[in-house]
Amino acid sequence: MPVSDDTIAGLIELKRSGEHGLTAQLTSQLRGLIGSGRIGRGRALPSSRQLASDLGVSRNTVTYAFEQLAAEGYLVASHGRRPVAMADGGDAVQGAGAAKPQARATRPRLSPWAAKLTQTDWPMSYQAPLRPLRPGHGDAREFPNEVWARCLRRSAVRAARRELGPVNRPRLREVLAHYLATSRGVRATADQIMILPSAQAALTLIAATVISRGDDVWVEDPGYPGAAAAFHATGARVTGVRLDEQGMQRMPKAAPPALMFMTPTHQHPTGRLMSLARRTELLSLSRPGKTWIVEDDYDGEFHYDSRPVPALQGLDVHGRVFYVGTFSKAMTSDIRLGYLVVPPAMVATLEIAQRHIGLIASSHIQDALAEFIADGQFLAHIRRMRRLYHARRDHLVEGLRRHLGEVLSVEVPTGGIQLVARLRRGTADQAAVKRLIAAGVETRALSSLALGKPCDHGLLLGFAAWRESEISAAVRTMASCF
Ligand SMILES: Cc1ncc(COP(=O)(O)O)c(C=O)c1O
Repeated sequence: MPVSDDTIAGLIELKRSGEHGLTAQLTSQLRGLIGSGRIGRGRALPSSRQLASDLGVSRNTVTYAFEQLAAEGYLVASHGRRPVAMADGGDAVQGAGAAKPQARATRPRLSPWAAKLTQTDWPMSYQAPLRPLRPGHGDAREFPNEVWARCLRRSAVRAARRELGPVNRPRLREVLAHYLATSRGVRATADQIMILPSAQAALTLIAATVISRGDDVWVEDPGYPGAAAAFHATGARVTGVRLDEQGMQRMPKAAPPALMFMTPTHQHPTGRLMSLARRTELLSLSRPGKTWIVEDDYDGEFHYDSRPVPALQGLDVHGRVFYVGTFSKAMTSDIRLGYLVVPPAMVATLEIAQRHIGLIASSHIQDALAEFIADGQFLAHIRRMRRLYHARRDHLVEGLRRHLGEVLSVEVPTGGIQLVARLRRGTADQAAVKRLIAAGVETRALSSLALGKPCDHGLLLGFAAWRESEISAAVRTMASCF
């Protein structure tokens, strides 16, 4: 029996822990509904925005599914209009108001890499502008734009005299090597450092150069979805490894994988610090020379309660650790610069791959950044933000405990820019996130960051980007929603 518009979402059942990605599941279920005639020919489907909201998935997930079905001839999609179903996967749609169909489209043949990219729910797309308490951001309003503008200007003036030199600018490599050695305990010479447009670029580069189809890759679970997506796309078998109080665990009885991805300084998303014993244990797995470790130190600059814990890379004497960093948390999200410290034996290969993929950051910006760091401006900014974010973390923790203590249990991270508040009862974090977003508070469901069956339900809340008054207002809104 044909279904009405508003029941389409109700007929779709997506398993977040399923073997297939959300896009693949949605595509296949919509294909079935149209092919069987349950969504009748000529019927307009909900808009991608509406369906994404009804299903609690990102808009990208729905858009990719629509695009795939349009390519297969199950839908006609035209810009700005709701897509229209074509029964039997290809007959022209006649009738009033239906979009005029194009010639039957042939399905584009995707590379295995691209096909896998579209199977994951990453990257998330946000429709609304940045608002409290979206996680993952520092406060761009506090960035010293005037100082940065002077560095940019001086770099631009010098551009006339700049020859088209190495893609990884030597001065920036040097100052970064010094900063990473003194602040993060990273042991590397300047020529091991690559400057990239983002940390994600570093993950893509690593995946492309050391991972082969079918290789085992372990990632933290719950963890950072961008990393799982980058390794999954290369055909790796990505396995989520549960955490305990000390951080990512060693998988009992399993043979060491080709690569382990971890965020030991502040585990993403829980904020936990990996113990020294666990670091040593995981490093020892890599020692026979078959396992690479990727350490993502995305917000290691921000520590509040104790001295910073040095990077795991500094403990590695066998050259098995890739160390990844980004300026998108320490400076601003739109700076679009990250870096990768490469094990000595891999430098030449990675540099060739960097040129091939074209992951090259503008020399102009690299030179400006070198000056910003060399002048002490970067460290001054970090120190100021550390004080500010520390106070904001405490303010959020206090507010949550006071107003939502019966509903949420807060895990106080020793550093970073976000925290996890677990639901004391129930496992409906995605429904809670929907309610909060509708009320104007943006959070991320902890269960949406699980790779396997979600065990933890809670909210990932950003504190660094928000003033105390904004945090207080958001907490009041949250209290009224629960
Ligand atoms: C754990 C982790 N690694 C890497 C990144 C991405 O950094 P970039 O914006 O430089 O790609 C993020 C962004 O949120 C992150 O949370």
